[in-house]
Amino acid sequence: MNNTLYEFGMVGLGVMGRNLALNMADHGVAVIGLDLDPEKAGALETEAGAGKPVRGTTSAEEFVKSIRRPRALMLLVPAGKPVDMVIASLLPLLEPGDIIVDGGNSYFPDTDRRVTELAEKGIHFFGMGISGGEKGARFGPSMMPGGNREAYERLRPTFEAVAAKVNGEPCVTYLGNGSAGNYVKMVHNGIEYGIMQLIAETYDLLKRGLNFSDEELQAVFEQWNQTELQSFLIEITGEILKKEDEVTGKRLVSVISDRARSKGTGKWTSQNAMDLQAPVPSIDMAVLMRDMSKYKEERVEAAKLLPNHTLGASTVAQRDELVNHLRNAFYFAMVSTYAQGMAQLRLASEAYNYGLQLQEVAKIWRGGCIIRAVCLEDFRQAYDKNPELPNLLLDPKIGKDLLDRQQDIRSILKLAIDKGMPMPAFMASLSYFDAYRSETLPTNLIQAQRDYFGAHTYERIDQEGLFHTQWS
Ligand code: 6PG
Repeated sequence: MNNTLYEFGMVGLGVMGRNLALNMADHGVAVIGLDLDPEKAGALETEAGAGKPVRGTTSAEEFVKSIRRPRALMLLVPAGKPVDMVIASLLPLLEPGDIIVDGGNSYFPDTDRRVTELAEKGIHFFGMGISGGEKGARFGPSMMPGGNREAYERLRPTFEAVAAKVNGEPCVTYLGNGSAGNYVKMVHNGIEYGIMQLIAETYDLLKRGLNFSDEELQAVFEQWNQTELQSFLIEITGEILKKEDEVTGKRLVSVISDRARSKGTGKWTSQNAMDLQAPVPSIDMAVLMRDMSKYKEERVEAAKLLPNHTLGASTVAQRDELVNHLRNAFYFAMVSTYAQGMAQLRLASEAYNYGLQLQEVAKIWRGGCIIRAVCLEDFRQAYDKNPELPNLLLDPKIGKDLLDRQQDIRSILKLAIDKGMPMPAFMASLSYFDAYRSETLPTNLIQAQRDYFGAHTYERIDQEGLFHTQWS
């Protein structure tokens, strides 16, 4: 490949960049990689194996010169400052019409800024969420690109070749303008946080609340993955629960510290949802339970001072029946979480002029990504039938699915309350449903209180206009 031009350039040959470049090479896309670390640059060719159209370099000049015009290059460097630094270093070498794709989890306002700054120089900038981790990058991720629609045609064949496929359909599509791709990936991660929290609450109720053994726990998730809950996160949970620790012989998960970390995408989802007035309570709960997990010393002290004596005394005779209720409860809460995230995407699309099509989002989330699940095909069909659907709960089939399962989630939450087990994401998922399907909410009283103490006025249900009352 020394004289021929490469189809694609990859900047940053860390875990994601290297694997995605190798994935491209596997699909016959000639790719050149750039990394300042000579070891990483050199390893790319070796790892690809003989005869693959791939090369690594440490020279930005050589890299840019070797890509066919208009150039398509992707950055897989840490989000934030490094993205701006890499853009600044490559910019003098690029020409109008060239395309830069940022494949990291960048904060969407940063992407909008970069789109505007680079457009002035004739460069197209794409923010593209990539989901699926290392394995996904290597063998087929879900990819969420946003940017200039015409410029996308230059990227499309490569992206469609490397993306995961579901029934032959690639898990990538043009999503919309500006930062649409990063926004969709951000909400993907918010939903990811929500479902992970629901799984964690399930595990906690069964283990700490009801004394399920390691084997029983593992069996629950393995069995659930054969049902309508089939999904990547349920599948890996079964595998995680099986893994033994080489040091202690115990299950590895039981010796892992319960302080959770995060990189910020879940928090951004919640923060922006509040800006848009899009309620996403299950995602909010997931974010704040990770925050709660940090207060280890205080929790240890509080556990002594405020003991929970109901724990450990497992009183459930009908374990199979309970697991069935829990499975239905989980399905209910999971669908509620997706509905919240999708409703946020709908509002964001209007607010930021993304032009998102939610049936396309559901379609590309069916494979490759962390929140892939069989239920996404149902969501896709719901949006296919009605692209303007304001909320998944308003789809008759999905709505009925939840109505049929509401007694299950209520009974599970009653049990959790009796046992003093925290299940805030389950509770939030049910409350979202209960509030959304309430024709009236008690916010009339809130309006009256606001008018009482602040003369903020209120509207009436029987007359037009704003009213104020002298309440006392
Ligand atoms: C994915 C993941 C990926 C990453 C998360 C982890 O879709 O492949 O979401 O992007 O693992 O950013 O996020 P936290 O560190 O915030 O849990």
